[in-house]
Amino acid sequence: MVDYEKKELLYRGKAKEMFATNVSDVVWVHYMDQVTALNGKKKVQMTDKGTTNNQISSLIFSDLTANGIPNDFIKQIDANNQLVKKVQIIPLEVVIRNFASSSFERKFAVDHLLKFEQPVKEFFYKSDKLDDPFINDSQIKALNIATQQQLDQMRDLALKINQRLRTIFAAMQIELIDFKVEFGLDQTGEIILADEISPDSCRLVDQKTKESLDKDVFRKGLGELVPVYKTVLQRLQKVEGHN
Ligand code: CDP
Repeated sequence: MVDYEKKELLYRGKAKEMFATNVSDVVWVHYMDQVTALNGKKKVQMTDKGTTNNQISSLIFSDLTANGIPNDFIKQIDANNQLVKKVQIIPLEVVIRNFASSSFERKFAVDHLLKFEQPVKEFFYKSDKLDDPFINDSQIKALNIATQQQLDQMRDLALKINQRLRTIFAAMQIELIDFKVEFGLDQTGEIILADEISPDSCRLVDQKTKESLDKDVFRKGLGELVPVYKTVLQRLQKVEGHN
């Protein structure tokens, strides 16, 4: 058993900090007690937010591993920290939508939560400076961000993740409206799921009450965010047999 030591800060994002470790291809991720929206313009510190998201994302990534989705998760270390495999992040946000919401709803003037026959797949270019613009396949290739084969692989993996997430959330009496994932290249050049999957990156609605159980609570000022995230965690722990 290797004893992992936290070394220098590699990167500070909006909700997580990444540190090097004593093992070259292993990264230490610290989930911060911070929530941001509007590309970081709205930022608030919240006790237990990091812990809750770390636990949610760790459980989901473990479940995805067990279901054959390659990803960077190694293990949860403690309340706020986990270890992941080092990857080179592909600067794309892959969004899958099962129902219309937010930017899709505004762009096409359709009803809120219009149900799609097939999931909608979208790519956005990860750039704070440009406000993460929508990007299509030929634009991605023109900018040498990914090859067609890599794009097809990311879409295919995102759809598989969608299927599994919908199953998990359905067992929690939650509807998965949409979500965002990020992929990276591992040391062998394979595409694997990276980053996190949590109520920060998914839109979740309670099947019975129709209440939001995700970051929309913060974005729209609907109430306290951490208790809502804790509800999601408790339901997830039950479904994953962790309590
Ligand atoms: O919510 P917003 O209008 O900013 O964007 P969207 O394109 O409707 O978001 C689709 C899904 O991706 C939602 O579940 C968002 O929470 C998630 N997302 C994210 O996690 N990070 C972003 N930078 C943008 C969207």
